[in-house]
Amino acid sequence: MNLGLTAKTAVVTGASKGIGLATVRTLIDEGVRVVGAARTITPELKETGAHAVSADLSTTEGVSALIDTALTEFGGIDLLVNNVGGGDKATVNFLGAEDSEWSEAFDINLLSAVRATRAALPSLIDRRGAIVNISSIVGLTPGGFPAAYGAAKAALTALGKSLAEEFGPQGVRVNTISPGLVHTSIYRDPDGPISQWAAASGMSLAEFVQQMPKSQNVTTGRMAEPEEVAALIAFLLSDVAGNITGANYIIDGGTVKTV
Ligand SMILES: NC(=O)c1ccc[n+]([C@@H]2O[C@H](COP(=O)([O-])OP(=O)(O)OC[C@H]3O[C@@H](n4cnc5c(N)ncnc54)[C@H](OP(=O)(O)O)[C@@H]3O)[C@@H](O)[C@H]2O)c1
Repeated sequence: MNLGLTAKTAVVTGASKGIGLATVRTLIDEGVRVVGAARTITPELKETGAHAVSADLSTTEGVSALIDTALTEFGGIDLLVNNVGGGDKATVNFLGAEDSEWSEAFDINLLSAVRATRAALPSLIDRRGAIVNISSIVGLTPGGFPAAYGAAKAALTALGKSLAEEFGPQGVRVNTISPGLVHTSIYRDPDGPISQWAAASGMSLAEFVQQMPKSQNVTTGRMAEPEEVAALIAFLLSDVAGNITGANYIIDGGTVKTV
């Protein structure tokens, strides 16, 4: 299928690894000019040929620097992927989470997208562009995860609907993707939250990760690969999906059982 994305300009947040890096690669394969941002510019991101911007996207200044770079260096933005996010600093225990954890969760999962979208919208309207926000099924089924992460992702999903309504008449489509388990480095990080959950369950990280699809009732029995999420992102950004807006696509191997 020809997605018709050649020569468009995209901004991808959280681009140095995981879903963001897979998205950068997929878009570049489709002929898109990509500006990708993260705090660390990894060799893998450099190798893609994307224009890499080092920025802390949990801050207003970091997001401004990214969008300003895209506008200045490439003359405008057609496509925006608000991918950056995470819940690694939030605790599952509600009473143990201070205000600072809630602020951090909302800064990186919600406000980064709010700020990037606000700054990019004049150009997106001008070019009749498209936005994809990366939420999570935790925004739909928050139990068992840090409350701040679930609440921030639910808010991000709602934001997508609001933006689709407000800017659809001006030609900008906005869609959300809610992944379930996606096989990224968060499941290999010995210092990350998954390791802590593994330790609390008396398992090694590898053992814990191996049983996650079963314990989370994933119908396909496996995590999604970042490339599978990236393919859905590219489709939703493209004119092939020209009449899809305000939607929330779940890619979770059947984890969510409700209609
Ligand atoms: N993996 C999953 O199972 C899963 C499931 C559902 C939803 N999601 C969502 O999918 C998105 C991507 O997740 P992932 O698993 O691909 O994560 P990942 O592999 O940990 O990658 C996260 C990316 O975001 C960047 N980043 C993190 N904090 C940043 C900050 N303050 N400023 C700038 N960049 C920052 C990281 O680079 P630096 O650290 O160098 O900055 C990295 O490029 C997130 O929104 C996540 O909530 C993931």
